[in-house]
Amino acid sequence: MCHRIILIFALSYLMALSLYGQSKSSPVYLYDEASVEERVKDVLSRLTLQEKIDLIHAQSKFSSKGVPRLGIPENWLSDGPFGVRPENLWDKWGSAGWTNDACTALPPLTCLAATWNPELAYNYGKVLGEEARYRNKNVILGPGVNMFRTPVNGRNFEYMGEDPYLASKMVVPYIRGVQESKVAACVKHFALNNQETHRSKINVIVDDRTLYEIYLPAFKAAVLEGGVWSVMASYNRYKGQFCCHNEYLINNILKGEWGFDGVVVSDWGGTKDTMQAIRNGLDLEFGTGTDGMLMDSDNPYDAYFMANPYKNLIEDGVVGTEELDDKVRRVLRMIFRTNMAKDRPFGSFVSEEHFKTCYDIAKEGVVLLKNEGLLPLNASDYKTILVVGDNASRTLSNAGGSSMLKPAKEVLTLDAIRKYVGDKAEVKYARGYQAYMPGYEPDNLDLLRQEAVEEAKNADVVIYVGGLNRWSYQDCEGRDRLGYELPFQQDALIAGLLEANPNTVLMLHGGTSFSMPWRDKAKSIVYAMYGGSENGSVLSDVLFGEINPSGRLPFTMAEYLDDYPSHALGIYDPDNKEDVVYEEGLYIGYRWMNEKDIKPMYPFGFGLTYTGFEWGEPSISSNRLKSVQEVVLPDSDSEAKARDSKKIKIRIPVTNIGEMRGAEVVQLYVRDVEAYLPRPEKELKRFCKLWLEPGETGIAEFELQEDDLRFFDPQKHAWVSEKGEFEIMLGSSSEDIRETLKLILV
Ligand code: GLC
Repeated sequence: MCHRIILIFALSYLMALSLYGQSKSSPVYLYDEASVEERVKDVLSRLTLQEKIDLIHAQSKFSSKGVPRLGIPENWLSDGPFGVRPENLWDKWGSAGWTNDACTALPPLTCLAATWNPELAYNYGKVLGEEARYRNKNVILGPGVNMFRTPVNGRNFEYMGEDPYLASKMVVPYIRGVQESKVAACVKHFALNNQETHRSKINVIVDDRTLYEIYLPAFKAAVLEGGVWSVMASYNRYKGQFCCHNEYLINNILKGEWGFDGVVVSDWGGTKDTMQAIRNGLDLEFGTGTDGMLMDSDNPYDAYFMANPYKNLIEDGVVGTEELDDKVRRVLRMIFRTNMAKDRPFGSFVSEEHFKTCYDIAKEGVVLLKNEGLLPLNASDYKTILVVGDNASRTLSNAGGSSMLKPAKEVLTLDAIRKYVGDKAEVKYARGYQAYMPGYEPDNLDLLRQEAVEEAKNADVVIYVGGLNRWSYQDCEGRDRLGYELPFQQDALIAGLLEANPNTVLMLHGGTSFSMPWRDKAKSIVYAMYGGSENGSVLSDVLFGEINPSGRLPFTMAEYLDDYPSHALGIYDPDNKEDVVYEEGLYIGYRWMNEKDIKPMYPFGFGLTYTGFEWGEPSISSNRLKSVQEVVLPDSDSEAKARDSKKIKIRIPVTNIGEMRGAEVVQLYVRDVEAYLPRPEKELKRFCKLWLEPGETGIAEFELQEDDLRFFDPQKHAWVSEKGEFEIMLGSSSEDIRETLKLILV
């Protein structure tokens, strides 16, 4: 019945149009029939030059014009990667003071990466997309996937660690989850934005092979597998050109080799030149005249590089409109995929389901680094429990730069511990230290430390909650850290607490690595990441055994800053505003540690558990894999399918031999025994997280195919594999290899 009415209406509507001489050349689309491309083409054909120019640059801090005359809505963009940022003023870096924009604060992306659980990445994106949709934002400015190259980078916490394969596997489901709500994810910062100091000045110099094997894979996966609808170009230069209009990165690779059909958005203030913006693939200009953080200039939007200056070049006949039409087509495509999507959902905001997802992610992201019998605690065993640390009583998700949030909820760890313990024991608190900006050291630090150490002597157990926070010069955008050690004189405090009471549990927040000179004296160390809205609940539940930690480090925690190549080679220089040469090439993170035989404090992929696992005998379906001809980017579907038939299967049983349900993360690394180009000793190519009940045996299963064995040959500009022997290593971290199998590529 319902369909017949629509049909009658449609016929009468068409007849009415023909009666009134509707021109045959302008088809009328029935809403459900026209494809996005048809609708884009139709609208493009109707636009004036001014309307086209209006579509490709900002009209406010976070929005760009639509076409009211044709019913095309505006674009509304919002940070950030972990939640929908509180509403900004129209044209200033300030809060609009709304009272209905407090969101679900999700854990930062190093925490998500530390779960090694792609399903959680999808759930993460789903929450983020639903909240952005509900807040009427059609672009969410995340995820960030820049590689962890130096531990002092202020934004490591916003990214997914040091390994391109892990980041690639976690970024795809995140994007799919977001875009299900008809919100565009915006993978960033494309590319080579691996430090904050002088981020908008430095010129990164890196060889092609390293670019393709280390710094691009997560972006490539976002485009080719995630189908991301927008990409944010980064502030820095590459090959001497600003990345916001970089011919090599945007025209040749992103839109050329990968066939990206979405929108390239500038970082805020990253656009520097009209002609380059026209020619080199920038589609949407934002924040010109600002530094993306605080500095603003009274820069009228018509003065943007791609506003009147562009229009004047067209009107003066200096440039044509071919590039403009391509930019407009992409912006319209994003609008039809999002705000004008025919099945656009309503979204949802700050729901119990969203908080539950936040908890589940934080729960699987916490990493147990050390435990000599102290954890999990039984609250009834103690009369006095002392909690120490500024981070125990501080909201952490409300800072960090553009990723800052106004959390509708953030459970503080001290509150959660008090709630869990109830009247089983007395819970006391000593701040121990106070956070401060460099150069503004408060004069009460010694007193705070002495008080906490004294209290520790009289407590049965001490729970220290410290680490970094999200202030400038810590885990925060715009500045790098000033050193590798923990800030706010925590090393002295931690040493004092461990001396005063050996039953001290260290729970350290952060999204990057830092030194731990006291770690041999500590019985239990938990890398607490940042848990967002459920931060305290998760840490308390880890402490008292409601959660069995299952996180694995997505980055290497080396003993010293100089254990990292960017420092060992003297490359990182906070005063350098010019060329930054990535001399270490492929060898970042565990690749470097293996190459230089450096034993890190806690290796990539490391994490302990409250239970225990036994690994059985591995098996391999065949150890001979047929290679195929070289494939030049991008892989076409047919080649990929053809290659599917050449997979080998690897399996290994894992048994939970402990008393608690827990998860093992079996990691598969590959080594090319002989290659005509140097290759790292091992590279992560698969992983499998197995949750097992006590006594249960599960099977970690992997399928490897030929292109997992490839490397990028810059001379051929192609991914190639080389016949011969490979080693397949199965490990529970990059340093703890349990089994090695041989594979021959024929
Ligand atoms: C900032 C950041 C970027 C953010 C944008 C908008 O400078 O680099 O990640 O999305 O500007 O706030």
